[in-house]
Amino acid sequence: MRVIIKKNYEEMSKEAAKIVKDLIQKKENCVLGLATGSTPVGLYKELIRMHKEEGLDFSKVITFNLDEYYGLSPDHPQSYRYFMDINLFNHINIKKDNTNVPDGKVPIEKIEQYCEWYEDMIKKVGGIDLQVVGIGGDGHIGFNEPGSSLNSRTRLVALDEQTIKDNSRFFDKIEDVPRFAITMGVGTILEAKEIILLANGEKKAEIVAKAIEGPITSQISASVLQLHPKVTIILDEEAASKLKRKEYYKFASEAEKKIGLRLF
Ligand code: PGA
Repeated sequence: MRVIIKKNYEEMSKEAAKIVKDLIQKKENCVLGLATGSTPVGLYKELIRMHKEEGLDFSKVITFNLDEYYGLSPDHPQSYRYFMDINLFNHINIKKDNTNVPDGKVPIEKIEQYCEWYEDMIKKVGGIDLQVVGIGGDGHIGFNEPGSSLNSRTRLVALDEQTIKDNSRFFDKIEDVPRFAITMGVGTILEAKEIILLANGEKKAEIVAKAIEGPITSQISASVLQLHPKVTIILDEEAASKLKRKEYYKFASEAEKKIGLRLF
């Protein structure tokens, strides 16, 4: 696990965008796993800039999103499909058919079959090359709330009270926040060839420290990233402020990164 601490949100976002760009340039038909929420918005802005100003080509890129609220249709302004369209897909030359976000309107009796199909689609394209994740206040990745099995797969889940509270800022009132979601499982996420976790702001500092430096536990889904062979955690200074170890490198230069100055 490598931990990069950047000065602020913008720098964190740029660092993540560089990793995504390198992959797209190395493997043009790469498969990206994408996340929603406030955290990756800066990353998506930077990718849009790279597309517009530097010609970064998304025409062969395939994407799979981590999760979607259950019950929201793709055109609902709070659905994650809508979020992805307005924050990224509508501004780059990706083929909409190559973008996959779980369908929040699958009839309940077809959910299991649908989730298996989502996993099969990921396998069919050769698996996810790079998965981007944020971290919830309760330590979730995707919507894998505390107690999610480390082997869990794509499935319907009930959202935690804290998640409902955290996400109510996007809705008119807390009662409007869906209580259920479809999410890739912890096991699904761990199968990605590479993972980057982004976190910014003081509010994330405590859970970030627990996930990175604490024991691996299903109570904090993000802690399982410690088991993955290729994870980069990119934090701003505030989100890094409760880490106990001080050796994580700050503002690492390109040269330092090239020689692999990493501590885990
Ligand atoms: P946030 O959510 O980016 O809006 O903080 C992160 C998450 O819940 O995974």
